[in-house]
Amino acid sequence: MNHYIFVMARLLRNVFLMNAAMCCCSAIMQQPFEVEPERLHKRSLSIGQLNFLHTTDVHGWLGSHLLQPDYDADWGDFVTFFSSFRESRLDDTQDLILIDSGDKHDGNGLSDATQPNGIDTTKIFNEQDYDLLTLGNHELYVPESTIMEYYATALSTKFKDKYVSSNVEFIKEDGELVPFGNKYIYFETPNAKLRILTLAFIFDFRRFNDRAKVLPFEEELKRTWFREMLELYPESTVDVLLVIGHMPVTDAENNEMARLHAILRKLYPNIIIQFFGGHSHVRDFVMFDGKSSGLQSGRFAETLGFLSIDNVTIESPKFARRYIDFNKESFKYHSEGHGKNAIDFSKGKQISKDLKYLREELQLDNEMGYVPKTYYMSARPLKSDENIYHLITKEVLPRLSSDMTNSSIGRYIMINTGAVRYDLHKGPFTTDTEYIVLPFPNEWLYMELPLKVASKIEQYLNKGPMIASLAPPQGIGLYSVDTSKSCPFIRQPYFTEGYTTSDDCGCKGDDTIHNSQAEYQMLNVVQSEQLVSLDENEMVHFIFYSFLQPHILEAVNAIDFSRSYDASDCTMYGGNSTKHLLRDYVKDITK
Ligand SMILES: *[C@@H]1O[C@H](CO)[C@@H](O)[C@H](O)[C@H]1NC(C)=O
Ligand SMILES: *[C@@H]1O[C@H](CO)[C@@H](O)[C@H](O)[C@H]1NC(C)=O
Ligand SMILES: *[C@@H]1O[C@H](CO)[C@@H](O)[C@H](O)[C@H]1NC(C)=O
Ligand SMILES: [Zn+2]
Ligand SMILES: [Zn+2]
Repeated sequence: MNHYIFVMARLLRNVFLMNAAMCCCSAIMQQPFEVEPERLHKRSLSIGQLNFLHTTDVHGWLGSHLLQPDYDADWGDFVTFFSSFRESRLDDTQDLILIDSGDKHDGNGLSDATQPNGIDTTKIFNEQDYDLLTLGNHELYVPESTIMEYYATALSTKFKDKYVSSNVEFIKEDGELVPFGNKYIYFETPNAKLRILTLAFIFDFRRFNDRAKVLPFEEELKRTWFREMLELYPESTVDVLLVIGHMPVTDAENNEMARLHAILRKLYPNIIIQFFGGHSHVRDFVMFDGKSSGLQSGRFAETLGFLSIDNVTIESPKFARRYIDFNKESFKYHSEGHGKNAIDFSKGKQISKDLKYLREELQLDNEMGYVPKTYYMSARPLKSDENIYHLITKEVLPRLSSDMTNSSIGRYIMINTGAVRYDLHKGPFTTDTEYIVLPFPNEWLYMELPLKVASKIEQYLNKGPMIASLAPPQGIGLYSVDTSKSCPFIRQPYFTEGYTTSDDCGCKGDDTIHNSQAEYQMLNVVQSEQLVSLDENEMVHFIFYSFLQPHILEAVNAIDFSRSYDASDCTMYGGNSTKHLLRDYVKDITK
């Protein structure tokens, strides 16, 4: 995505919000962390009449972040936190709703090392007492994920009245299309008796498998069930319209949530419309209008989102948001409340134990080497020796060798940045590290090209907008310009490095104050260069992932008009995958 468009979109929205004279966070702006020196780095929650906790894009990360102490809580800790929070932090006029907005596997060995993917993590994930849940695109790539999600979660006894998906259909074995859970859910909260109408939409996702069907929300809203819902639940019967989206809350390119908001606002002009988002893997919060906000709660179980709405049914409701670091210290801090109820740890402890057994069974902690320092995807500049792409292009790819390798011929080796999924953290390099950082094996193709053509491919592929299929799925990098411009850059000896989130309420949404982590722009592709001559007409080997072939052909045809290139110009190069080369590299430096 183009950063400038992104920043402009946010600036325009901010201008609009100022004109509308509405601000969300008066309550949280005066949080007492300044007057609580021993709690200096924590910001407390502002509990309201209606409270939400939100996870999204967990992607199999149920076993905590073993190499990142700031995210050291596992799913068992989260289950304990949620039940003790509910017991101790709310009075009998207040309600709490726990939501997940999808993408539950692909990203961690706990889910991805099993067959089918996610068979064990689905069970463990479902131990949490979600009040509302839906699915993401990662539940829709392959039939086995979709079938498991439908039968083990959407139709389960525990969740069949809590699973909501307004624009996805499941396709049964006999071809019949049925809603993927409930199209909508209407309920009354137990304490404040607030009447909540819930919808859930995934973004306009096209690559669903043949056991599912996704309709863009515009089309879905034309269907009979929606008209009937509007008749059954007119505005007079609803206090809060709740919309769970597996879509970003800020999205300058497609603006899906904002467009959805505009349509729903026409239908429900006066009540609160509260959105929860996901998919782009960032912390974010937006005010769509004075009675409508959207919260997005990070990725990979490093964030637990909190949102409260106070004065729900009167003219000017108050919204307060918090991004809770997913760690034991934060969980303890936020669940210590007014109540004196003893915390029941037994269920959470059992889940932590189950996760440990699962790690052992899958041999995820099998140690293959040691990583001496952390290599970042976008928190360090590409040229930094703490950048993972720098490591890969300078140390790892040059190790590629096959029958085609000829040291008297120069070569380029290109990968798409999206091949890397996570920072490579200092510490043991394990089977799990591979699932987390570089999960996919690859095959190498090559073309023989004159240097003057080969040398221009990288620039061609990086000059345009983000190519979604090449860059990492994360929205990381998108916030760089924005964050550094609008929030003070924190740098203190006693804080650890982490998020300083910039959102529509300012810079104080994170529950833990960290030294600000910079975000540098991501490119689509990076390459290793091993040239033997600078003669423009010399032939070189241009080596790339087979997956990149259409992009490479597009590039060379745009660069070299002297002839036309097609798939027959691409030959197998052979040699080991990047994943294998990285493993060998780490083994070598560990010796
Ligand atoms: C709004 O909520 C606050 C408590 O959070 C309460 O003190 C105040 O009276 C409420 N305002 C109205 C108009 O109900
Ligand atoms: C390497 O390439 C050079 C130049 O094209 C060629 O003369 C030589 O025979 C090649 N060597 C091998 C082992 O293929
Ligand atoms: C891959 O690397 C291994 C060492 O880990 C090596 O023995 C093998 O020959 C390599 N395979 C190819 C195709 O280069
Ligand atoms: Zn995701
Ligand atoms: Zn997604």
